[in-house]
Amino acid sequence: MTALEPLTISSNASSGSSDGSHPAPRAIDFSDVRKHYGNKTVVDGLSFHVEPGECFGLLGPNGAGKTTTLKMLLGITSPDAGAIRLVGEPIPARARFARRRVGVVPQFDNLDPDFTVRENLLVFGRYFGMKHAQIAALVPSLLEFAKLEAKADARVGELSGGMKRRLTLARALVNDPDVLVLDEPTTGLDPQARHMIWERLRSLLSRGKTILLTTHFMEEAERLCDRLCVIEEGRKIVEGRPHELVESVIGCDVIEIYGPDPLALRDELAPLVGRMEVSGETLFCYVDDPQAVHQRVKGRAGVRYLHRPANLEDVFLRLTGREMVD
Ligand SMILES: Nc1ncnc2c1ncn2[C@@H]1O[C@H](COP(=O)(O)OP(=O)(O)OP(=O)(O)O)[C@@H](O)[C@H]1O
Ligand SMILES: [Mg+2]
Repeated sequence: MTALEPLTISSNASSGSSDGSHPAPRAIDFSDVRKHYGNKTVVDGLSFHVEPGECFGLLGPNGAGKTTTLKMLLGITSPDAGAIRLVGEPIPARARFARRRVGVVPQFDNLDPDFTVRENLLVFGRYFGMKHAQIAALVPSLLEFAKLEAKADARVGELSGGMKRRLTLARALVNDPDVLVLDEPTTGLDPQARHMIWERLRSLLSRGKTILLTTHFMEEAERLCDRLCVIEEGRKIVEGRPHELVESVIGCDVIEIYGPDPLALRDELAPLVGRMEVSGETLFCYVDDPQAVHQRVKGRAGVRYLHRPANLEDVFLRLTGREMVD
């Protein structure tokens, strides 16, 4: 599947025209971008765009090329080929200029551990040439946004993982950016901390910010993203709106069956099921008639099962033959 042309599924993926003319500049435009390290191709002809006000997700397993893509977008790493525009500016030529309008949450927090929460915000604002008084006036609203008012004078080392991530997000807003670039904003966080970040990101989207995020959490992408593309080994394998991808690639319910011998169950259930995949000890059944499968496995010793709607994880499994998180 990965060797094929990427599948694009969207009824209305773009408000722009397909001939290159566009009324307002796209927030992000990536066109046939390539990058290799040594003899390894890390980003392989990747194209995607993000409209102003959209939340776009770049999904892929470890090593897919997500961070490299963001580094090229920000002008930190140069592409070998292709064209990149950020807030209408050519990258890397005008990266410094473009980045004045961009906030970045890197994959790994680079907060200053010796500074307090407040000091981290103050120091960061100076990178944008802001005056101390100007940043100091913004700090209360940034602390409020990050729900860190009570931690303003705590050192970074005293913060939980979720608090550090929220501080990094608040720090990315110091320059009131139009575009936010977030590299795995919730990896390593517990579910509660993750929900809090999602809620903060939704609030930014409601204020008209544009977000590009990377993730390998399908649920995160389904909840937040207007559109997304899945990349593997630097290549786009599918692009579209989350629910349209699920509907067009899967289009039915899923029953996950956990048992000691998924291959034996597969043979037994084959006549009742449209399509099946085995992944580890789990048998995924894509079913139009869930009842028939329920009746066959119900009460079976050592077999547990879960009936659920299809999701993006199923899309990835279908297109690549394996699960996203390894
Ligand atoms: N500076 C570098 N030099 C050599 N190889 C690199 C460099 N940076 C990244 N790579 C390689 O490029 C590939 C893509 O890495 P990248 O960090 O972009 O992936 P990723 O999708 O962000 O993965 P993760 O989910 O683990 O963060 C990997 O095989 C990685 O080892
Ligand atoms: Mg990465």
